[in-house]
Amino acid sequence: MKTENTVWHEQHITKEQRAGIKQQKSCLLWYTGLSGSGKSTVANAVDALLFELGCHSYLLDGDNVRHGLNGDLGFSDEDRVENIRRIGEVSKLFLDAGLIVSTAFISPFSEDRASAREKLAQGEFIEVYIDTPISVCEQRDPKGLYKKARKGEIKDFTGIDSSYDIPQNPEIHVKTAEHSIQSCAQQIVNYLAEQGFIELSFIELSKETNES
Ligand code: ADX
Repeated sequence: MKTENTVWHEQHITKEQRAGIKQQKSCLLWYTGLSGSGKSTVANAVDALLFELGCHSYLLDGDNVRHGLNGDLGFSDEDRVENIRRIGEVSKLFLDAGLIVSTAFISPFSEDRASAREKLAQGEFIEVYIDTPISVCEQRDPKGLYKKARKGEIKDFTGIDSSYDIPQNPEIHVKTAEHSIQSCAQQIVNYLAEQGFIELSFIELSKETNES
């Protein structure tokens, strides 16, 4: 620890107060899944639905964060651990700001996902497993990375020569190969409403009732 001469300052305004002015409760949607599984796509669709509902959310996306804050990290096991550690810490700050946070990182190691969970209060960490078979991810190959990894041009590629621990007990299990992006996003928003993190407005509720 390099922080022995620093003191933690309690803030006057609490997380609950900050979230309360938005009629929401802070939580973290932790998306995990293989490259090309659809984490970012689903997370963006959820973010758009939350925005429409008037919620205040923010998405931390692996590829983007690796351009800035985590630009010094590669894909060795050690660097992935550090990548996820930093994201866990940043997410905790965003939760303190009262937001509904989404993180879209492969986050291949269950131990690191568990550490991110432990940093937060009970119930705040929502593991969202984007469960897309590797054959489908490889067929999609939106960035051409699987092709390169198969040729040996990229080393330590998740699912090929680097491991992925399948979530054993995710709060939300999403299958993008079987459902549309929109219905996957709705599944997640419904979970947030059921658990009391957000309130579906009267208009949204009556829209749902009219549609059913
Ligand atoms: S994590 O394993 O540390 O959680 P992260 O989600 O930040 O990974 O970054 C994954 C993204 O980086 C992939 O979607 C892909 O675009 C790119 N990438 C580049 N090299 C690799 C690699 N060796 N393994 C996995 N993804 C890689």
